[in-house]
Amino acid sequence: MSLFTSLVCALSFVYLSLFQLTGALPVVNYPGNKNDLVITHNNTINATTPAGLAFAPDSQPASYLKLALVNYLNSNNVKAYVTGLNANNQLVFLGPNGQFYYPSTSSSSPVPLSDANIAIPLGAKGSTTSATIPGYLSASRVWFSDGSLKFYVVGTPNGPGLVEPAAVNPNDPNAATNYGFAELTWIQNGGLFADISFVDFVGLPLGIKLTTTDGTATQQALGLPSNAVSSVCSVLQGQSKNDGQPWGDTCVYTPSGSLIRVLAPNAYLSQKNTAFSGYFDSYVRQVFQHYSTTPLTINTQSAAGNVQCTANVNSMTITCNGDNRSYAAPSAADIFGCNSGPFAIQAGDNAVHYAVVPRLCAAFNRGTFLLNGGNTQPSLAPSSYYTSSPGIYNYFSKAVHQFESNGLGYAFSYDDVAPTDQQNVAGVVASGAPGTLTLLVGGYNQA
Ligand SMILES: *[C@@H]1O[C@H](CO)[C@@H](O)[C@H](O)[C@H]1NC(C)=O
Ligand SMILES: *[C@@H]1O[C@H](CO)[C@@H](O)[C@H](O)[C@H]1NC(C)=O
Ligand SMILES: *[C@@H]1O[C@H](CO)[C@@H](O)[C@H](O)[C@H]1NC(C)=O
Repeated sequence: MSLFTSLVCALSFVYLSLFQLTGALPVVNYPGNKNDLVITHNNTINATTPAGLAFAPDSQPASYLKLALVNYLNSNNVKAYVTGLNANNQLVFLGPNGQFYYPSTSSSSPVPLSDANIAIPLGAKGSTTSATIPGYLSASRVWFSDGSLKFYVVGTPNGPGLVEPAAVNPNDPNAATNYGFAELTWIQNGGLFADISFVDFVGLPLGIKLTTTDGTATQQALGLPSNAVSSVCSVLQGQSKNDGQPWGDTCVYTPSGSLIRVLAPNAYLSQKNTAFSGYFDSYVRQVFQHYSTTPLTINTQSAAGNVQCTANVNSMTITCNGDNRSYAAPSAADIFGCNSGPFAIQAGDNAVHYAVVPRLCAAFNRGTFLLNGGNTQPSLAPSSYYTSSPGIYNYFSKAVHQFESNGLGYAFSYDDVAPTDQQNVAGVVASGAPGTLTLLVGGYNQA
């Protein structure tokens, strides 16, 4: 890191002069080494069973899951990495030989993994590389990168823990590498669920498609086009000029000055925890005021059905019938992350609480509370998301959906909240009888 730091100090004045013109403070990433890893529960998957135990025979699928990895990036150096936990909760990678590879260590210091065991090389632009996943896999990610991605393992009490690339760490060893990931879970009692997630950042554009073997239609979310990072970044820089909020500061540059990714506001907040402070306050107050005299209905889309909620402007809380706990006014960080403050789920929370949290948080991110029909959540069509005036909502998720094919693909963590009769914009593909899962890398517009 120290050599990097000094090189980088020499370079950084270039950015200063460039960005002083616009008044923005760019995030410039300087990749470090394993000493710069920040190991949190957010960037690790830990085995709960050590490597080397025998497989239970009934935990093997009748047939393997087929993957088609399509490269639309103009690079001969694209690699895929499939990570996850097998049916025995052991940490695995899909090896380039088509077998599961079981990383193992008892070291408390992160040990780098070798590409020879874990990297699946893709072909040139326009080619499709086939692979099969030889067993159920949960908490899985399919990572793609232009060049190698560095993964590490550390010993944990129950077996190896995988340390994954962390976009929120500006000195992560992968900080200047162009990468992205899709999420995948394939289990015996549930089938396959997969999605493209831009919840943490927009980087290497990805898309997803699933055929089935039971005659149901192909599902797809083709994701972002090849120029998504610069498109999303310039929309956010424009929004900063409108409202003075640091949307544009979430654009991330490499030491050589290229724009590499755009962080979601909650990821940016983990670097700069005062950002966006107070941003939602006036909207939150308007919402609480409005629903102190008008009932707010939350459709739990579960056994509890519709529940009535009321706001109290003296205590600044929302209380819902049948819900064990009320909701205090959320901060910007609470709204962007959907998992802190009033949106933190606690042990003992009941089913109504579990249902209300995502629906309230989605309505704040999308700014739909005060629209016509906003008194029932969720009920409005995706065309109403991000349309309220004055526009106080999540401009990152708005911009991501603006550039996504058909507007589909997760852009904040509860983006799967949707009225039952409307399209779900999260773009999840799912089947109990999965055929081939196709992952597109580099932008659907290059097809
Ligand atoms: C995995 O284990 C490491 C080391 O014990 C710990 O820091 C990390 O929080 C764990 N991750 C999860 C997801 O529990
Ligand atoms: C990790 O996730 C927690 C919530 O699960 C969040 O509060 C925290 O800011 C995240 N940390 C980083 C570094 O992203
Ligand atoms: C919430 O309600 C459930 C029953 O619906 C109860 O078991 C639980 O203890 C309650 N939790 C709290 C925090 O009040």
